[in-house]
Amino acid sequence: MAVGVFDSGLGGLTVLDKVAARLPDVPFVYLGDSANAPYGVRDADDVYKLTCASVERLWEAGCDLVILACNTASAAALRRMQESWIPADKRVLGVFVPLIEAMTERQWGDNSPPREVAVKHVALFATPATVRSRAFQRELAFRAIGVDVEAQACGGVVDAIEEGDMILAEALVRSHVDALKRKMPDPDAAILGCTHYPLMQEIFQDALGPEVSVFSQANLVAESLADYLQRHPDMMGPGTQARFLTTGDPRRVSDRATQFLRRQITFEKA
Ligand code: DGL
Repeated sequence: MAVGVFDSGLGGLTVLDKVAARLPDVPFVYLGDSANAPYGVRDADDVYKLTCASVERLWEAGCDLVILACNTASAAALRRMQESWIPADKRVLGVFVPLIEAMTERQWGDNSPPREVAVKHVALFATPATVRSRAFQRELAFRAIGVDVEAQACGGVVDAIEEGDMILAEALVRSHVDALKRKMPDPDAAILGCTHYPLMQEIFQDALGPEVSVFSQANLVAESLADYLQRHPDMMGPGTQARFLTTGDPRRVSDRATQFLRRQITFEKA
């Protein structure tokens, strides 16, 4: 009854941590494609091919349901995967929609027409590929009207986090927030649209100021996964064991992961 969680590298661990706490009886198999990270600087075709390969690996590990805990893959590849590639007995879900539903104060699966919502000026921080896809604006337009979105592509932040260089990551976050504020001086909400960014959440909040509500995905995804599994218990795959898989160097990736989550995590080769 395992469920797969995929990210290009370590960022999806922020999601895994929350889904595992919310669903303690479900064995999760995490796969980080660290050998090919970052995805955010790749083109959509490349992200699609790499994401499909990783999802297939998770299917092999006994996970019929895979969560793309990666905004870049959710934004640049998921729609194409759902339209033409995923077999009928498997499911792949992304991390964008729960976040947008929370921001637009909607319940899961509420398909009513778009309406006015409390937030008016939203700052989106994401990878260059996610910003380029405009997937966030597209999903938002289905649910809300009159929301002004300013997107900031945060080049370099994922590489710095994957390298464990948190001083560089902090400097880059502050400069990306400054750049955003030059375009939108007073956002009322900010979206951390990359699963690596919650590792820098305090820095984003500090740079944005206390009046800006910062939305990050992990808790929202955990709630919507719990809801999904309750309605689709048959989507628990045949796997029985929680595992951490990486396409990178397991020892190096384990050290970084242990440092980020502040508990021992041991990766094995995917
Ligand atoms: N953490 C991923 C995301 O949410 C991927 C970042 C990357 O590999 O560039 O977008």
